[in-house]
Amino acid sequence: MEQSPGLAIRPKGAKEAVDGFRGLASPLALEASWLCPVAIGKSRLPVRVKRRGEKLFLEGSAMGVDHSGRRVRQMFGQIAWRYDFLNHLLSFGVDYRWRQQVVCRVPPRPGVPILDICTGTADLALAYWRAGGGKVPVVGVDFCRPMLHQAWQKCRRCGATGIRLLEADAAALPFGSNLFQIVCVAFGLRNVQVPERALEEMVRVCRPGGWVVILEFSMPRPGLLRTLYRWYFRWILPRIGQALAPNQFEAYHYLPTSVGEFPPEAYWTEQMAAAGLQHVSAQPLTFGIATLYVGQKLS
Ligand SMILES: C[S@@+](CC[C@H](N)C(=O)[O-])C[C@H]1O[C@@H](n2cnc3c(N)ncnc32)[C@H](O)[C@@H]1O
Repeated sequence: MEQSPGLAIRPKGAKEAVDGFRGLASPLALEASWLCPVAIGKSRLPVRVKRRGEKLFLEGSAMGVDHSGRRVRQMFGQIAWRYDFLNHLLSFGVDYRWRQQVVCRVPPRPGVPILDICTGTADLALAYWRAGGGKVPVVGVDFCRPMLHQAWQKCRRCGATGIRLLEADAAALPFGSNLFQIVCVAFGLRNVQVPERALEEMVRVCRPGGWVVILEFSMPRPGLLRTLYRWYFRWILPRIGQALAPNQFEAYHYLPTSVGEFPPEAYWTEQMAAAGLQHVSAQPLTFGIATLYVGQKLS
C-alpha cells in the first residue's frame, strides 16, 4: 500500500488498532499548524497544552487519547477501503446531492478557512474546496487514520492539494477559538461518543458570524416511505454492507442502530441554540432521510 507522507500506515492497517501511534508529528498535523495557535508537537516528547481548564496531550499527532472512541475508530478502520463505494451504492448516489445541498445552503466566502470534522474520506471537504474554486483553505479532521489515508489519496487524485488533513478527535479540536468561517460535519456527529461535546467544539472554533452545519441521517415521517426505509435499512443494507466490506464490528448493522438512537431534530435545534447559535434551522432532505441543520454563531 502506498503511504501518505509521514503516516505509518501498515498494509493491513485497516484491521489493526491505530491507537498506539507514537511517531513523529505527521506532516498532516504539521501542515495544519498554520492555523493552530496550539503548538502541535514536533518532537517525540509529549506536548502538554492547557485549554479551558483541561489538559490535552498531543503526542505525534493532534489526537488526544480517547479510549471510548476506540471501537468506532477500529470499525471505520476496517471498512475504510470500501467506504466510498458502499456509501454511494447503498444511498443510490443521493449522498452526493446532499453534500451539494450543504454547500449551496452555506456557500464559502473567499479567504477564511473551512473546517470539516469527522471528514472520513473528505467528500464534504472536497465539495467545499470545489465550491471555493480551490482558493478557500479547507481542513478535514478525523480520528481514524485509514479513513484519512483514503481521503489523502482522493484529494491527491482530485488535485485538491489545498485540503489539509489532520488526525484529531472531534470532541477536542486542536484549534484556537473563532477561526473558521464554516464548521461542518456530514454523517459524523452520530458516531461521536458525546456529540454535544463535538457541537460545543464546532461552535468554539467557528468565527463569530460564521456557520455551523450538520448533515445527519434521520427518520422519515411515519408512512409508507418510512416503512420501506426501515425495512431496507434493517434487512437489506446491513447484509450488502457486511458482504462487501466484511468487518468484525458489523458496521452496517451499527448504522441503522446509531441512526435510530440519534436524538430527533427538535433536540438538536435546541442544543445548537444553547451552544450559542442563532438562526438555527433543520431542513429535511429526501423525505427526511437526512436532515441539514444550520446555525450562525452570534457575532
Ligand atoms: C460515517 S463517516 C462520515 C465520513 C464523511 N464525513 C462523509 O460524509 O462520508 C464518520 C466518520 O467520523 C469519524 N469519527 C467518529 N467519531 C469521531 C471523533 N470522535 N473524532 C473524529 N472523527 C470521528 C469516523 O472515523 C468516520 O471517518
